[in-house]
Amino acid sequence: MTGASGGLGLEMATILASAGATVVVNSRHPGRAADITEQITGAGLCAEPLAFEPSDDEAVERAAAAIRERHGRLDILVANAAARMRRPLRDIAPGDFRSLIDTNLSAVYSLCWHMLPLLEASGRGRIILVSSISAQRAPPSDAAYAASKGGLEALTRALAAEYGGRGVSCNAIAPGPFLTEINRKVAGEAADTIARQVPLRRFGQPHELAGTALYLASDAASFVNGQTIVVDGGMLASM
Ligand SMILES: NC(=O)c1ccc[n+]([C@@H]2O[C@H](COP(=O)([O-])OP(=O)(O)OC[C@H]3O[C@@H](n4cnc5c(N)ncnc54)[C@H](OP(=O)(O)O)[C@@H]3O)[C@@H](O)[C@H]2O)c1
Repeated sequence: MTGASGGLGLEMATILASAGATVVVNSRHPGRAADITEQITGAGLCAEPLAFEPSDDEAVERAAAAIRERHGRLDILVANAAARMRRPLRDIAPGDFRSLIDTNLSAVYSLCWHMLPLLEASGRGRIILVSSISAQRAPPSDAAYAASKGGLEALTRALAAEYGGRGVSCNAIAPGPFLTEINRKVAGEAADTIARQVPLRRFGQPHELAGTALYLASDAASFVNGQTIVVDGGMLASM
């Protein structure tokens, strides 16, 4: 699980551990990966830290080798880490755009590329990519993020099509607005405006996303492949 150190990632890591998984807790920061691991194991669940930078291809390769050495396989890969660049398009220089695509899309491709042999070794590998409703409905001043998440949903389908026959399914979760660090800067009136666009009239709480990850990782989702499940309080469904 990348980006497991907070927000939605921490909730997903915790619910998967509660269901019996040994969660490999990734953060770019060794201290944070260790703290979260301690938090999960302190609750009597199984977790181990694995700090690496998801957009460093060689670091991802080393991470895959470490998992192979310790476990021989990987049952569930959750690619959750992402960054955001809320700026008008002309303030996102082409180099900035490339950099965000690198973090949010190319790094996820690299993660899948390196972990796929371990997921195949599982015999029931599951990939869960974390997208966003911004892939389907573009907010203004968010072009790089929206494009990265659109690419992620296309990658979900491509992985599903190519690896379904090899025992690995791939689905995505598209969260709507949740109260996490990534939305820290949205405050006051802007936050109220967003909440008003949600039929449930509020931001989601991080724990309200975790059940969907648990479902996609479970046997209950054994025939679900190539899908994006939207968890947004009805925001995309409403006018
Ligand atoms: N919150 C929302 O409303 C919302 C809505 C739609 C989609 N999403 C998606 O849900 C996922 C989790 O979001 P969140 O709200 O939980 O965000 P968050 O609290 O900001 O956590 C994201 C995690 O990603 C890692 N990260 C941040 N910047 C990174 C970078 N430049 N390179 C690599 N890793 C980076 C961080 O982990 P470390 O610093 O520990 O490495 C961080 O814990 C993301 O994919 C996000 O796009 C969130």
